Amino acid sequence: MTTALITGSTAGIGAAFARRLAADGHNLVLVARDTKRLREQATELHDRHGIEAEVLTADLSTDAGIEAVATRLGERRHPVDLLINNAGFGNKGKFLDVSMADELTMLKVHCEAVLRLTSAAVEAMRERGRGGVVNVASVAAFVPRGTYGASKAWVVQFTQGVAKDLAGSGVRLMALAPGFVRTEFHERAGMGTDNIPNWMWLDADKVVAAALDDLSRGKSLSIPDPRYKTLMGAAKLVPRGMLGGISSRTGRKYGPQ
Ligand SMILES: NC(=O)c1ccc[n+]([C@@H]2O[C@H](COP(=O)([O-])OP(=O)(O)OC[C@H]3O[C@@H](n4cnc5c(N)ncnc54)[C@H](OP(=O)(O)O)[C@@H]3O)[C@@H](O)[C@H]2O)c1
Repeated sequence: MTTALITGSTAGIGAAFARRLAADGHNLVLVARDTKRLREQATELHDRHGIEAEVLTADLSTDAGIEAVATRLGERRHPVDLLINNAGFGNKGKFLDVSMADELTMLKVHCEAVLRLTSAAVEAMRERGRGGVVNVASVAAFVPRGTYGASKAWVVQFTQGVAKDLAGSGVRLMALAPGFVRTEFHERAGMGTDNIPNWMWLDADKVVAAALDDLSRGKSLSIPDPRYKTLMGAAKLVPRGMLGGISSRTGRKYGPQ
């Protein structure tokens, strides 16, 4: 039996990872801020799948929260074999509509926490000669639009760079870049989603199945779903200046409001 640690495990994509990994027989360390919800999730997954599920309450926008999770990842006697850096959120509004405090919180959760937790996990995994890290980014990483996309571009670049550095060590790293997924994300950010066409929505369980498949194939980047693969392939061919204009216009029309 192996152990996976999932940040942001209680909702959306993180909860889908927890369900799938528990069903596959992995023990879990569940991380989020809401202790009651974490405990309920741990009990449910233990009862349903017979796995051990630890609860670790941590706010990854704080140094104390990041340190608590990093310490757990570094425990050599209870190793973590798979880290899913998934916790994240959106801020409603364009640049300057969002307060600097909220912008910095996003960078702390999306970038600093991912950097420090990946580092803690990978150090221990490299000693054992095996392990995996999935860093949840977004297709927003590939279009020049907003702080959210910029933070996710960092996640993709960082993850693929470290994956190269660790090639041959037995430790795999993969960035996961989904399109729109039906989760609590948009509601939590106060964003309306009525403009987003139905065909653009992905199911969290399918995203996770595709991600784990790609991880097992040794990919360093996973874009689940052929529709988004095609869109992102086309985006690569468009000059960046033009891409910014297109994504801004289509985002206003079809994106979260
Ligand atoms: N939904 C989409 O369309 C979409 C698309 C592409 C990428 N993503 C990315 O996928 C990841 C998961 O998003 P989701 O859509 O599944 O969101 P979600 O349904 O809102 O779930 C977010 C999870 O993260 C936890 N979390 C939030 N802030 C945290 C913090 N400061 N410290 C610790 N845990 C925190 C939440 O629990 P607590 O509130 O209890 O802490 C919750 O478990 C994010 O990184 C997001 O950027 C989402």
